Formats: sequence, structure tokens, C-alpha cells
Amino acid sequence: MSKVKVWDGFIRSFHWLLVAAIATLYFSAEEGMLELHFTAGYFTLALIITRLVWGIIGSKTAKLSALIHSPVAAIKSFTSNEHKAGHGAAGSYMVIAFFALLIVQLTSGLMTSDDILTDGPLVAHVSSDIVEFAGWLHHLNFDILLYAIVLHVLAIVIYRIKGKNLVKPMLTGISEQVAVTEPVTKSPLIAFVIFAVCLVVLFTTWGAEPLSYLLG
Ligand code: HEM
Ligand code: HEM
Repeated sequence: MSKVKVWDGFIRSFHWLLVAAIATLYFSAEEGMLELHFTAGYFTLALIITRLVWGIIGSKTAKLSALIHSPVAAIKSFTSNEHKAGHGAAGSYMVIAFFALLIVQLTSGLMTSDDILTDGPLVAHVSSDIVEFAGWLHHLNFDILLYAIVLHVLAIVIYRIKGKNLVKPMLTGISEQVAVTEPVTKSPLIAFVIFAVCLVVLFTTWGAEPLSYLLG
């Protein structure tokens, strides 16, 4: 089978930057480095917002609509040997779960307080009951996110054992295991522009204080 570009540059950057950001968020929370935590949090927020927009206007394999499959298709995809460009049916459920978990983690973080010095930027705008609930959710949801990550990596390893290398395409963009009749990716330039705009907006508003603390 010939070489096919299956993941555009933004999807690949999104994925590996997300992995780095989540490691930083975990480490910074454990070490009580909340300025770093907030900075990595806003960076992750910019990543997710851009990914969701790219899911509407982006490459065929980035489309959110391509993630919708029936549960039957998901079960069948475990046993099938079909190699299609983009996420498989079962993998799509995992991707949707990741997006939902990340949105919950980010929104709850914005309303979480460490009860000492540091408040998320929305804490001042919501009731103390909501702040308490958001803090509880921020802790609980992170544990669920960790289980999802373990499951995700395990699935990738199982596919590898079955002969399907998914990691190489996520690194290089290129798959040698699929056949397509027309291009499934487009230039990621607009996605990077949207990402840059999100970063500028977030780091000139909520992120200005933690970032200047880190840099200064
Ligand atoms: C913090 C940990 C991780 C998170 C939150 C995460 C999240 C995600 C998400 C959201 C996607 C969908 C990409 C998109 O359509 O935008 C994805 C796909 C993928 N991830 Fe991860 N990931 C993590 C770690 C890893 C690691 C360590 C590996 C390598 C072993 C990996 C390999 C892959 C691969 C190969 C795909 C593409 C799967 C496919 O072909 O359908 N991920 N991941
Ligand atoms: C995907 C993004 C995020 C992840 C993975 C994440 C993860 C975590 C983790 C693991 C903890 C420690 C929980 C524990 O001690 O059990 C934590 C605490 C905290 N997070 Fe996040 N967080 C994220 C985003 C945010 C954002 C955007 C904010 C606010 C701007 C935020 C604010 C906080 C605060 C204030 C705490 C301290 C809570 C305490 O001291 O009890 N987080 N976060």
C-alpha cells in the first residue's frame, strides 16, 4: 500500500503538546506550583478550543462529525482488520471521552480555589457552593482522566501487537497501512493562526499574572 498523509500538522502538534501539557499540569499540581499549573491550564484551553474549531473547519480526519459511529460499529471494529484513514469507530468513542473529560477538567479548574491564596479566574463570579463542587469535580475528574489515558495507551499497544502501528502516523502524519481515493488532510495553517489568537487572548487576560510570575 502507498504512503498516505492521514494526520495534518495541527492534529499531531495538538496531540503531543496535550501530552506534555497534562504531564506539566499533574506535576505542577502535585508540587503546589500553581502559577505553572494555571499557565499550562490556559495553554491546554487554547489547544482544546482550536481542536474543536478545527473539528468543524479542518481536515477530513480531524472532523468531529467523523467521530460519530453506532455502538455496533464500535464493537465490530475490534474484530475487523479494515484499515481506514482517521479514527476507527471504537477509537472515536475514546476521543469523544477525552474531549469531554478535558472540557470538564478545564472548566472546573477555572472555578477551583486552593483555599489559601490562589483562585481560578471564575471563582469570584460564582457562589461558594459552586467553588466547593468545582474543586471536588476537578479532583475526581482527573482520576477518571488518568484511567482513560491508561486505557488509551493500552489500546495503542494492543493494536501494535495485532500488527497496526498507530503511533508512527501520529508522529509523522504518514500511514502506509491505509488506502484513500482523495486527500484527507488540508494545510493546518489556519489552525495554527487560531491557536496563536487563543494564546494571545488568554495570556493577555487571565494568564497575564501567572505568566509574568513565571517569567519574572
Ligand atoms: C496525556 C496522555 C494522552 C492523552 C490525553 C491523549 C489524547 C489523545 C486524543 C484526544 C487523541 C485524538 C486526537 C485527535 O483527533 O485530535 C489521541 C489519539 C492518539 N493517541 Fe493519544 N493521548 C495521550 C497519550 C498518548 C501516548 C503516550 C501515545 C503513544 C503511545 C498516544 C498515541 C495516540 C495515537 C497513536 C492516536 C491516534 C489513534 C488513532 O489512530 O485513532 N497517546 N490521543
Ligand atoms: C486539563 C487541564 C487540567 C488538569 C489536567 C488539572 C489537574 C489538576 C490536578 C491533578 C490537581 C491536583 C488535584 C489533587 O490534589 O488531587 C489540580 C489542582 C488544582 N487545579 Fe487543575 N488542572 C487543569 C486545569 C486547571 C485550570 C485551567 C485551572 C485554573 C485556571 C486549575 C486550577 C487548579 C487549582 C486552583 C488547583 C488546586 C486545588 C487544591 O489545592 O485543592 N486547573 N489540577
